[in-house]
Amino acid sequence: MNFKNPAIANEAKKSYKRILTGDRPTGPLHLGHYCGSLKNRVDLQDKYETFILIADVQALTTNFEHPDKLKENILQITMDYLSAGISPEKSTIIIQSMVPGISDLTIFFSMFVTANALRHNPTIKTEAKERGYKELNYGFLGYPVSQTADIAVFKADLVPVGIDQLPHIELARKIVRRFNDLYGETLIEPEALLSNFPKLVGLDGNLKMSKSYGNAIYLSDDIETIRSKIKMALTDKARIHPNDPGHPDICTIFSYHKAFSEENMIKTTEYECKNGKIGCVQCKNNLFIRIKALIEPMNEKREYYKKHVPEIWDILLLGTGKAKTIAEVTLKEVRSHMKLDYFE
Ligand code: TRP
Repeated sequence: MNFKNPAIANEAKKSYKRILTGDRPTGPLHLGHYCGSLKNRVDLQDKYETFILIADVQALTTNFEHPDKLKENILQITMDYLSAGISPEKSTIIIQSMVPGISDLTIFFSMFVTANALRHNPTIKTEAKERGYKELNYGFLGYPVSQTADIAVFKADLVPVGIDQLPHIELARKIVRRFNDLYGETLIEPEALLSNFPKLVGLDGNLKMSKSYGNAIYLSDDIETIRSKIKMALTDKARIHPNDPGHPDICTIFSYHKAFSEENMIKTTEYECKNGKIGCVQCKNNLFIRIKALIEPMNEKREYYKKHVPEIWDILLLGTGKAKTIAEVTLKEVRSHMKLDYFE
């Protein structure tokens, strides 16, 4: 193959590890996202070449009636990334629907997977159940295939995921192996970089912080909103007076201390709560101080980006442009290995 463009020539000799992560742009990110993946990505971008995919097509699989929301959601999620410390110099942020190579590869991959295997995919099953779907549309059923294309088209080596996404990575590995066996070594078999951060519980004590449960603290919340959300949060119901012995293991606020406070504070809080030496009000205030320290700098950065929206679109244009070039190179190889390069 003849590489004239230096960026592409470099791509052919790719010798560094690349990671790919992704989110559906379905709404603002909250502290659960921050603890579960965003914080990790901010660290990973110093160690790996980091690609972050805004999976707008995947968002459409469950939201196709409302494509008009996507543009605003893409802007918001990018602001969340940038405010939380994702650096456009270190990370490439990509809009999925603007990279045609992803859809091309999805079609080629779709022959390697049976509809039945997708119907039995545990993550698809759980999600379909949560959403109350009886019938699955073709796009939703097939999103793990397009997710495989997301990963393979950029030749990502590693995919940081939570445990719920593991079946998708297994599928991606299978598809890539199948492709390489059939047509010759072309694509990289990706590995999961399993993150074992526990899920953040909701402010209402629900097992999961989630937009749909209305129990989240958003990275874009202002400090006063956060103060009142923490004030309202559920604690140990059995505790009425500050000197009643508490049960930190079942307390939402204590679980947040474990996620956001320093080791010393966690130990002291646990001891003082169990022994009725600290009231919930004081304990919540200690937590608020920690979360404020985390969010305040994010708010400041967000204020900057709110005033410089064209800068955000430039970052997305640049990232997506780079991604398109890489995807084109991969697709050229793919077509050549599949003997579909008729005009070459
Ligand atoms: N399915 C992921 C989610 O819902 C988002 C996603 C799309 C993704 N493409 C990806 C994650 C590729 C990792 C790799 O959160």
